[in-house]
Amino acid sequence: MARILITSAIPYINGIKHLGNLIGSQLPADLYARYQRGRGNEVMFLCATDEHGTPAELAAAKAGKPVAEYCAEMHGVQADIAQRFGLSFDHFGRSSSPQNKALTQHFAGKLDDAGLIREVSEKQVYSHADGRFLPDRYIEGTCPNCGYDRARGDQCENCTKQLDPTDLIEPRSAISGSTDLEVRETKHLYLRQSSMKDQLNAWIDSKTDWPILTTSIAKKWLHDGDGLQDRGITRDLDWGVPVKKGDQDWPGMEGKVFYVWFDAPIEYIACAKEWADATGKADAEWERWWRTDKGADDVRYVQFMGKDNVPFHTLSFPATILGSGEPWKMVDHLKSFNYLNYDGGQFSTSQGRGVFMDQALDILPADYWRWWLLSHAPESSDSEFTWENFQQSVNKDLADVLGNFVSRITKFCRSKFGEAVPQGGTYGDREQALIEELTRRVRAYEGFMEAMEVRKSAQELRAIWVAGNEYLQSAAPWSTFKEDPEQAAVQVRLGLNLIRLYAVLSAPFIPETTARMLSAMNTMDTAWPDDVAAALSALPAGHDFAVPDVLFAKITDEQREDWQDRFAGVRT
Ligand code: MF3
Ligand code: ZN
Repeated sequence: MARILITSAIPYINGIKHLGNLIGSQLPADLYARYQRGRGNEVMFLCATDEHGTPAELAAAKAGKPVAEYCAEMHGVQADIAQRFGLSFDHFGRSSSPQNKALTQHFAGKLDDAGLIREVSEKQVYSHADGRFLPDRYIEGTCPNCGYDRARGDQCENCTKQLDPTDLIEPRSAISGSTDLEVRETKHLYLRQSSMKDQLNAWIDSKTDWPILTTSIAKKWLHDGDGLQDRGITRDLDWGVPVKKGDQDWPGMEGKVFYVWFDAPIEYIACAKEWADATGKADAEWERWWRTDKGADDVRYVQFMGKDNVPFHTLSFPATILGSGEPWKMVDHLKSFNYLNYDGGQFSTSQGRGVFMDQALDILPADYWRWWLLSHAPESSDSEFTWENFQQSVNKDLADVLGNFVSRITKFCRSKFGEAVPQGGTYGDREQALIEELTRRVRAYEGFMEAMEVRKSAQELRAIWVAGNEYLQSAAPWSTFKEDPEQAAVQVRLGLNLIRLYAVLSAPFIPETTARMLSAMNTMDTAWPDDVAAALSALPAGHDFAVPDVLFAKITDEQREDWQDRFAGVRT
């Protein structure tokens, strides 16, 4: 039995995620976790909310709530939606947890001991009215280049010119609008990751099986222009992990917090401790996943994320871990995704464009979305959600192919043999050919799932469903029955067993539906079909079953148009 540690990039706390976020990390990670559990492996699947930084502060301010309260509430909301989407995390943690706070401070201390931290004095804009330093993008003013009066301190949106806050004419705080600003000296900690360039390069070179998308992004940041510069790991903010060296104060760093991108990936580790603490387990239980000196040397660690996250996971976080000099488990395989677009444009949280996770579940059950998203995962390039395409996939793949198969065979059996697996008859050439095809396809499916080839896995699974339909169509037990009921019986018996087989194979994609299939087949036998022929006799003659309700309803043109209109504008 292998042990597999799986993490999904941890979603920002500032609002409900859209379907583009979902397919970019959490959903494919769940697919992989469910598959590995189905194969009998030991899995630890972790995710959390990313709660620090200015976006969280601003979202809380907008909601009129103290930031800690806002985060606690939104964590609950995200956890609930994740559960309703069938995301099977072993723990859904919080980057603001005491465990992550302690571990983040611990890492900073180790990095400092290793001489990898230096202090830098910087000039930064302080707002008297807001009582805080302002990040560049929270300073607004008139662009010196084009005169646009809402240019930001980092860039003018109108003419795209890169700016410094001090370039702005009549600068003001984007938070309060106050013009009572002052440039002040402030000290920050920098992680000297440039000194780890060779070490990181060698580590990346050792990863020969990473997807090209992952390696090319990592290499680009490592070698191009300002790739691996030292980076500031502290900020002048209130909300975050206070800057400390282990549990010691850090002179000169009072009132400062670590940068959100420093503490967020550390939450992958802290999350496992949160899991252990929440379930009353000893530290050894989480450390065997994360400490190579405590059992994690035989763990395979896989990360899932969108492409914009790749530099942080191939360079910054590894620099933190390597720099600590401690035996933490490092990622073995990193699966990254391109973007999913929405109907001719981009999904956008700030503009509320697209379909958000809660809205999706208001319309249709999770499995409809899971199937479409996974079978259209943006792997080799960006992909696009359109309502037409969604309708077509659901109606064809789920309703016509899988749903119809299940309904036809169970109803036919009920009408001719009753609601129990019929006995009699023996396999002929047609059955042998089907078993051969399925054996070949199941092995291919395993290969794609193992390799995290999400789209190819979906295609192969669909082909497995189609094979059953074609068998049924050509065997035609409804005709055979008249001359040779024994032969019809063996065909139906095989068909009913296919339903169980399909449930086991399809569970990573559509877990709710496959649970219904298994319950209709009155079985808890979810053994993986290492031997397809044997798996097809799991339900013996005489075994009772029930005809399930329709598995998937077709999407009508009317519904499609209605949803298309409803989601054409922005979320209010
Ligand atoms: N919150 C980030 C995003 O949504 C992802 C953070 S992943 C971690 O893009 F590694 F930092 F945890
Ligand atoms: Zn401009």
